[in-house]
Amino acid sequence: MNRVALILGVLLALPAGQAISALDEKSAKAADDLLRKSGCYKCHAPERKKDGPSLKSISEKWRGKPDAVSKLSIHVTTNPVVKIEGKEEQHEMLKLKSDSPDEVKNVVNFILDR
Ligand code: HEC
Repeated sequence: MNRVALILGVLLALPAGQAISALDEKSAKAADDLLRKSGCYKCHAPERKKDGPSLKSISEKWRGKPDAVSKLSIHVTTNPVVKIEGKEEQHEMLKLKSDSPDEVKNVVNFILDR
């Protein structure tokens, strides 16, 4: 995939700071692949609670909040300390392929779209 074309495409599709309501198939697949590769599904299932909340319940918690994209982007890129089964642990970080903030934004929008 041509990086420049990818970034241009995302920028055109996604005005700064604005969450999009429905991801196209390619963006959704890229987000799903990255979540899988980063080990996120070990603790987050689409609909069922595991060690972490389901993607659906994260989406319900954050949808419509103006700071959702920025807060969740920070959450998935900085290893914040969270409680996992009552024990404080560092939260997993996305294994990004690029240094593009759009890769992060795409995953966050994917979660908010569940
Ligand atoms: C070892 C288990 C575990 C793994 C692996 C994990 N998470 Fe989590 N995640 C949690 C737990 C537990 C919470 C709830 C933390 C809280 O609410 O304090 C959470 C919360 C979240 C939230 C919601 C934060 C909020 O403020 O509402 C997001 C988004 C999230 N995780 C994304 C991811 C992504 C993306 C990955 C992969 C890079 C990932 N998680 C990997 C356990 C995990």
